[in-house]
Amino acid sequence: MSWVNDPQGPIAREAAGLYWIFFAMAVVVLVIVDGGLIYAGFKFRERAGHVAKQFHSHNLLEFAWTLIPTAMVLSMTALAVPKLNFINDTSNAEMTIHVKGQRWSWIYTYPDQPAFRTNENKPLQTAETLTIPANTKIKIELEAVDVIHSFAVPVIGGKKDAVPGRQTSLWIQADRPGTYKGQCTEFCGAGHADMLVNLVVVPKAEYAAWTRNAVAEYNRLNPPELARFRATYLANACVGCHVVAGTTSQGKVGPDLSKIASKPNIAGVLSPVNEANLKRWIQNPQAVKPGTTMPALGLSDAVVDDIVRYLVTLR
Ligand code: CUA
Repeated sequence: MSWVNDPQGPIAREAAGLYWIFFAMAVVVLVIVDGGLIYAGFKFRERAGHVAKQFHSHNLLEFAWTLIPTAMVLSMTALAVPKLNFINDTSNAEMTIHVKGQRWSWIYTYPDQPAFRTNENKPLQTAETLTIPANTKIKIELEAVDVIHSFAVPVIGGKKDAVPGRQTSLWIQADRPGTYKGQCTEFCGAGHADMLVNLVVVPKAEYAAWTRNAVAEYNRLNPPELARFRATYLANACVGCHVVAGTTSQGKVGPDLSKIASKPNIAGVLSPVNEANLKRWIQNPQAVKPGTTMPALGLSDAVVDDIVRYLVTLR
């Protein structure tokens, strides 16, 4: 359902109310203007025995079509300003989530509170989905790494640009649990269409349990003994092209590496998937598979070793 017919949060509801008022005004204007045009076209058309009357200016008409549109625009402003103030008011939010836009994904950082802290002593970060409690005002702090992106989940409402070098914010609130789709709404390059927002809303009473599970799952996927290897992977160019589920590696150009260690081969040519083969592949992809789009990154041996030690754990 679209946000105008079935808004799912207070912002979308306010905007939809305004939308229908403006829509009704536009329909009235359409009927009067086009109705008048069609009527005049028929009544005064050229025909035998009919001579067009010549006249200049009509004070009453000219007053009417100046004053009425002015009054309409002013009344639209008067209706819109309080709604805009409501939409832009991020105060009194119950929770703040930091959202970073980068080509071409969103990275969500949950509040720096004990409940969200992972075994790395940092707040929980997710990339595929943003999970919030229902009926709760959530402030979203936006930042962009590279170019301008725009965060929007229409059926919930609210939309804001994420601008490099500047922090912007908006708030969101969902009436009911469910999954809502959003999209980056500022063209940001080749992967723009893939830069989705997956908003998952859980009942308020279940949010603490969701948080516990999400932190436990994060810790399970990110054991301390892998921290260095994972950090090396995430710090290198791999992340620009590949997805590893549950991490900030969300590149959509190359194959998904989330379960690379369970795959039968590497790039269809190298088998099995083990440390030695992965290393061979990363160091010189062209030698293994001529014409592949995977570039040789010129990484040092030590860096490649760390990366493959991480990759072989992804199953
Ligand atoms: Cu990010 Cu479009």
